[in-house]
Amino acid sequence: MVTWALPVVHRRGGLPERVTIWEVGPRDGLQNEPSMVPTSVKAELIARLVGAGLQTVEATSFVAPQWVPQLADAEQLFELLERPQGVRFPVLVPNRAGLARAMACGVQDVCVFASATESFARRNLNRSMAQALAMFAPVIGEAVASGLRVRGYVSMCFGDPWEGDVPAGQVVAVTESLLEMGCDQVSLGDTIGVATTGQVVDLVAALQRVGIGPEHLAVHFHDTYGQALANTLVAVECGVTTLDASAGGLGGCPFAASATGNLATEDLCFALHGLGIDTGVDLDRLVEVSQWMAAQLGRPSPSKVVQALTSRRTAASGRPAADDLGRPLPGDGSDALPPVPDHVTELPGRTQEQQRSRRGDDAGPSRAGL
Ligand code: HMG
Ligand code: MG
Repeated sequence: MVTWALPVVHRRGGLPERVTIWEVGPRDGLQNEPSMVPTSVKAELIARLVGAGLQTVEATSFVAPQWVPQLADAEQLFELLERPQGVRFPVLVPNRAGLARAMACGVQDVCVFASATESFARRNLNRSMAQALAMFAPVIGEAVASGLRVRGYVSMCFGDPWEGDVPAGQVVAVTESLLEMGCDQVSLGDTIGVATTGQVVDLVAALQRVGIGPEHLAVHFHDTYGQALANTLVAVECGVTTLDASAGGLGGCPFAASATGNLATEDLCFALHGLGIDTGVDLDRLVEVSQWMAAQLGRPSPSKVVQALTSRRTAASGRPAADDLGRPLPGDGSDALPPVPDHVTELPGRTQEQQRSRRGDDAGPSRAGL
């Protein structure tokens, strides 16, 4: 079998030479794990992601620990993190308590997270949209005054499991508020992964009409319907150059049952590198990171590129790519995955139950119905 360098590069005019990948796996990915991942594993994941060339790695959240127990170890994580110069480690903060915790850890980048819909604002933040913005205003003001950079997220920009289609005007209004309060960028979240490419073009155009250009925007697509890569590439064509993705396709949101993993960083890099767009990421090293993480979690990555490049590499080495259960073997073929990772512990039942009821597993629309 012939082997050749992949992806093959074909440049296209009108595209940027370089983009910023905003890696969200350690936060958006691990916040949705059914089990507690040890802090040391999280720290090692982040170090490996930086080693693969990612310069912005969203590390964790300083939210109420009873709401997201998976990330309750934020302080301990920052104690373990090496922070090389030039690498950004943003974190989510919902309120002043979260900001104070983050600043005590020396965090330089924070994100507030608003919603384009009332239903999700209430489920995710226990507040109306207006109350949530009122909670964020002093957080953003204090962070900016202290020299921090602040990103705003807007969730449910393209569809909401409780409200259906989301009018672009709702997204525009929340984005304007966040930028006016002092955010330097707003990431448009397709929390449940239902967006299609025409919607993306129309939303970026609607924002442009009120003077919000793509330089103020990032995009954040979950991949529920397999549209995340197409949507991200269309956003790049529209001028957006900060792109959220999650190594190996980890991800979801504990308060929206229909939110599956984010766009896999490897799938994004394969597409961008094929267009000759520089990401700073070493794709082979990143695939190794996701294989390693898959072994930690005891299940394979859903990323097509991780799967294909893993098979390609193991075919070249003459070793099997997966064990008998279809789980990936490490790239060097040295060890099979442990049957159940001993270090990953179950979350307390009460908090899992609370997350289920807040996200509406019992009363809200089912995953299949979205
Ligand atoms: P609440 O229960 O209304 O808040 O939650 P509260 O002010 O009444 O506080 C309740 C308790 O939490 C108090 O403790 C507070 O001290 C404590 P108690 O007196 O009961 O012992 N508390 C905190 N503790 C530590 N750190 C804090 C903090 N805040 C309060 N920061 C709140 C309101 C906003 C806090 C809660 O709803 C919350 O933490 N929500 C976070 C939800 C979350 O993290 N969701 C996932 C991230 S969003 C996402 O994934 C979407 C995104 O990826 C984009 C996309 O995909 O669209 C970003
Ligand atoms: Mg998300």
